[in-house]
Amino acid sequence: MRQAVIGLGLLVAAISTGSHSAFADEIADKIQLCAGCHGENGIPQQKTTPVIWGQNQGYLYIQLRDFKRGARKNDQMSAIAEGLSKDDMKALAAHFSGLKWPSIQQPSPSKDVTKHALTVIGSIGCTSCHLDQYQGDSTTPRLAGQQAAYLLKTMTDFRDHSRANNPGMSDLMNAAQPADLDPIAQYLASLTVIGGGGQ
Ligand code: HEC
Ligand code: HEC
Repeated sequence: MRQAVIGLGLLVAAISTGSHSAFADEIADKIQLCAGCHGENGIPQQKTTPVIWGQNQGYLYIQLRDFKRGARKNDQMSAIAEGLSKDDMKALAAHFSGLKWPSIQQPSPSKDVTKHALTVIGSIGCTSCHLDQYQGDSTTPRLAGQQAAYLLKTMTDFRDHSRANNPGMSDLMNAAQPADLDPIAQYLASLTVIGGGGQ
């Protein structure tokens, strides 16, 4: 009897080890797929594709979940998220949040553009949630050093509700004028990244 119990324990251990490495292989394949658009070195191929290396873990998970649920829609990402399980999304969020945010070195905007951006940012109070270095935390995303064209696109999407997964951010974006969004995007994109992921 005792031996049978030990035998069963070993069998369970063997099965779970086996399935663990199959899962690890599957995740490694998915990470390769992500690199096709989000970049082999963390620098996305397209300017409107966001950096995900070093982004905050809780935020990454929520976006994948929202793409899968349909709360956030994008032709490319919705199709990809459809094929992900909850465990896949957790593993991918843990993986990408642990990588070092890439340095894209986007140009600093002119003094006038910076002043415009800071006036709006100050009046809406963006740093109360995104924090003083725009590094975010947990489910609030890092904005510093994100791609300018992506920031402009996603803030516009929040504003017109084509990105509808966070009504609070849509309300905040509607407190800004359309002409404010490009200065804000350029300003945030140019910031030096402090403490991203594996840094
Ligand atoms: C075919 C190109 C493509 C592939 C492959 C791809 N993505 Fe994306 N991803 C995008 C685009 C484009 C967006 C921006 C969507 C938008 O504008 O709303 C995005 C957005 C995201 C976001 C939201 C980031 C943010 O700052 O809000 C996350 C998280 C993400 N992708 C994770 C992944 C993961 C993980 C994989 C691999 C399983 C992956 N993506 C594969 C193109 C892709
Ligand atoms: C009350 C807290 C709060 C304030 C204030 C706030 N945000 Fe956000 N912001 C969030 C949260 C939470 C998210 C993530 C939403 C989601 O899960 O999709 C977000 C998302 C974003 C995104 C999307 C980033 C990405 O990678 O897709 C941008 C851009 C952004 N905020 C810019 C701003 C700007 C600019 C301001 C000020 C004008 C601002 N936010 C004010 C909480 C806030």
